[in-house]
Amino acid sequence: GPCVGRASPIKVLVTGAAGQIAYSLIFMIASGQMFGPYQPIQLHLLDIPKMADALKGVSMEIQDGAYPLVHSVLCSTDVQSAFTGVHVALLVGAFPRGPGMQRKDLLKVNVSIFKEQGEALGKYASRDVKVLVVGNPANTNALVALTKASELPPQNFSALTRLDQNRAASMVSDKVGVNVDNVSNVIIWGNHSLTQVPDVTHAIINNYPAAGLTSPALSTINDDKWVSESFMPLVQNRGAAVIAARKLSSAASAANAIVGHMRDWLMGTKQGEIVSMAVISDGSYNVPKGLIFSFPVTCRNGEWSIVQGLKISQSIQQKIDITTKELQEEKETAFSFL
Ligand code: NAD
Ligand code: LMR
Repeated sequence: GPCVGRASPIKVLVTGAAGQIAYSLIFMIASGQMFGPYQPIQLHLLDIPKMADALKGVSMEIQDGAYPLVHSVLCSTDVQSAFTGVHVALLVGAFPRGPGMQRKDLLKVNVSIFKEQGEALGKYASRDVKVLVVGNPANTNALVALTKASELPPQNFSALTRLDQNRAASMVSDKVGVNVDNVSNVIIWGNHSLTQVPDVTHAIINNYPAAGLTSPALSTINDDKWVSESFMPLVQNRGAAVIAARKLSSAASAANAIVGHMRDWLMGTKQGEIVSMAVISDGSYNVPKGLIFSFPVTCRNGEWSIVQGLKISQSIQQKIDITTKELQEEKETAFSFL
């Protein structure tokens, strides 16, 4: 895998590199948290021209961090040089929402970014580049980028719902009263939006499947009232709650989610562990092909696969239908701007 000793450096692109998320993310990458402690890195950092000075400052701080794994840093405001030869592309650069907005309100301003960057991936990136779209609305922006990069395999594109997964797992751990590392397989279905479907029905706590067990801890998350009245709306609205509190959108927790998403994709998930990634639908769970949809996946040898055959309750299915419809509408709106 990519983490074995003395590997040749990989080129990692971060867009929006002078922004908030990047200010946490770049330093986590530099310290080896994404690719492991033996994988040297060449950073490609892109932002827009008016951020050139701020970007220079970030690059000074990378230098001052004296990170052994960072072999070089390319700071650029030019798309072609930033995208050339990259093996991993973390597309963070985009406008964030403010209080009172929905993420899809950003489509109009952000779609053009992902159109241009999709084309740049197709022309200049390594042919096996793995792409993670973070800029909102992330699922639909990823679909735009993938569509514009028809030279590349669609399975190499993804969007971030790991932050929602982490939020959900953390709320479950709180509710049950265990440390969060005892919670896994909480699933996020669909869009990174209000209609996302956080699903605890397949959750595992301390290696015991949640469904059908009667220990007091497990019955607390099988509590329908808690799930529908607290858990789901709290996870769905968490991004907005952070914006209301910080007057800025989540950044450090987003960076941590990006690291988890890429690390699992490249290095593999643990035995029996399910994570959520928004990826191109192949028709699984009757989600129409051609949408970027958050599914339960496992990862191996640098490839994700959708976990098949999970039992979906009627109530979860109804919610999956709603988030599917929203993604279809976003797709239409986005493509009308192209
Ligand atoms: P920010 O405004 O602090 O930083 C964004 C940076 O992107 C800015 O420096 C800006 O100049 C740059 N940028 C804008 N257009 C660009 C372009 N064409 N090329 C390169 N850089 C460009 O915002 P942030 O807080 O870092 O958030 C970035 C995006 O991530 C927002 O869209 C936000 O909504 C989204 N987000 C998504 C998730 C998720 O879970 N999917 C979580 C948090 C934030
Ligand atoms: C989040 O979930 O925190 C991000 O998508 C930012 C936002 O707009 O909510």
